[in-house]
Amino acid sequence: MARIDQTVIEEIKLRANIEDVISSYVQLKRAGSNYQGLCPFHSEKSPSFTVFPGTSSFYCFGCGAGGDVIHFIRRAENMDYPSAIEFLAKRVGVPITMDKREQDENARRERVLAMNKEAARFFHQKLFAPEGAEGLRYLTEVRRLPMPLIRHFGLGFAPNEFGALTNHLRKKGYTDSEMSSAFLCGISQKTGKPYDYFRNRVIFPIIDVRGDVVAFGGRVMDDSKPKYLNSSDTPAFKKSRNLFALNFARKSETETMILCEGYMDVIALHGAGFSNAVATLGTAITSEQARIFSRYAKKVVICYDADEAGQRAASKAFALLGEVGVECRILKVEDAKDPDEYIRKFGAPAFKNLLERSRSEFDFKLDKIIRDNPIVTPDGKIKALEESVRLIASFPSAAAREIYLHRIAELLNVTPDSIRRDVEKLLRNRDKKEKREEAKQMIRQSEGYGDRINPDYVKNTVAASEEETILVIMLLHPEIWTELQKSGETLTVDDFFTAFGKKVFESLEPNLSDPLFEPGMLGEVLSVEEMDRVASIRRSRSLLQQNTITVLRDSIDRLREATTRREMSIEDILNKKRQKNGN
Ligand code: CTP
Ligand code: MN
Repeated sequence: MARIDQTVIEEIKLRANIEDVISSYVQLKRAGSNYQGLCPFHSEKSPSFTVFPGTSSFYCFGCGAGGDVIHFIRRAENMDYPSAIEFLAKRVGVPITMDKREQDENARRERVLAMNKEAARFFHQKLFAPEGAEGLRYLTEVRRLPMPLIRHFGLGFAPNEFGALTNHLRKKGYTDSEMSSAFLCGISQKTGKPYDYFRNRVIFPIIDVRGDVVAFGGRVMDDSKPKYLNSSDTPAFKKSRNLFALNFARKSETETMILCEGYMDVIALHGAGFSNAVATLGTAITSEQARIFSRYAKKVVICYDADEAGQRAASKAFALLGEVGVECRILKVEDAKDPDEYIRKFGAPAFKNLLERSRSEFDFKLDKIIRDNPIVTPDGKIKALEESVRLIASFPSAAAREIYLHRIAELLNVTPDSIRRDVEKLLRNRDKKEKREEAKQMIRQSEGYGDRINPDYVKNTVAASEEETILVIMLLHPEIWTELQKSGETLTVDDFFTAFGKKVFESLEPNLSDPLFEPGMLGEVLSVEEMDRVASIRRSRSLLQQNTITVLRDSIDRLREATTRREMSIEDILNKKRQKNGN
């Protein structure tokens, strides 16, 4: 299996002080010899997330997430195990020796980036060559972009030929398969030969925060379809994790960013002096993109197209950005279909004015309620009230709710008291419902239902629990395991009952003789959720610290005894439950 040298990992973990690393993500307060804060992995109001500097580990008593600093990065940055190590290595300045597979992957990525850069240069040059005249005319005359702006964004032109770029790149030493992996060419099904993917289009290079050209968008110059072609995901690019013009916007000296729909909107805004504008890449905003915003901005002004689709998309953006703690406002362009057209028609100062008049989430949603319901009729007014009550109840701040309900009371001409009563009732009911759900969830969990990580647990809880004890002893006391083996006893994967137990055993056992072994190494094989489970099993058995080989032997005996009993089927479990419930 691919792996980064364990001594290097040790070095990284030694240097990366866990409380320092985590405090870049969570506000930590000292609590005795530990630290506490609000868990970044589930939403909570009182801190149950704890960092233990003594053992260089963390654990959330609320959601059960826990592990070492690498595991934390894996979760917080949504990275796989090797990337998390690489990330930390950079942070603490440890050079890492990569294995072959990773070296290959990196090399492939570097090749794609170099090729993209070459392609971007090619497209840009073509814009000013005779065959690019139509592209240049489109950008300067139809779209009215000044030359410095065209250069700033490195816009380009893809000639109306099948082999312009492909031939150029081949001469530079790139292979057909490299070009097609970067979505710069397609491969003809008939001839098996490559052909240019972008043809007769103006080109928008997409540049990431490191300054690498990671992808391209290409627009037709008339009304033909499809209007845009975009690179799909490549070894160097993930659409859902990039934003157009973030390379510029992150350097703008403001805590606010403007989120638009289109490349052209962003370019027009930058041209008008709003260098904090970005756009998603032809898709609705993703949670990954929302997280990127939270890294670079405190506030986001959503500036989507005026049409129905744009307004619907705005609701989703509010939700996702709100989740990561970014304050959102929305700006509606009037008398123009999008920000680009607005600026061309009315100019930058007018847009600045719109920005200043951007509305809050509450106003935006209230407007929609008023628009959707005919409040001049009693029925329409009642429906509008009901929807308003739900809207108010969705705000966690009591003070905000109070302010909003007065606004609605005035608008719909009812007393604030009556609205307040309805809101409170709704909140109470919701609370009750949540508690009921929670209770149900707890029952389900205690019975093992809905256990996605170890679905076999419920089929034989005795065996599953003994397995856990054995695994914890192996994890925390590898020397006891060695002792057991020396005494000639064996325990194999076949002794384990649950698939989860087997998997952990199999990833653990071969590593136990490694003098550098430590539990975090399992992260190479186990998923983030599985690692969390290992952490909570460890914690639940932390009283077993004084372990001896006798405890291990007893557990092995009990496991074997339990597994020889017939495996209970789901049917059996349900029957047993029915009997217990007396029907
Ligand atoms: N888009 C796309 N494919 C399409 C249409 C749109 O990928 N067929 C993406 C592009 O990223 C585009 C964005 O969705 O920038 C917004 O679409 P639209 O508003 O239609 O495009 P604009 O960039 O505003 O283009 P224009 O003003 O030139 O019409
Ligand atoms: Mn547009």
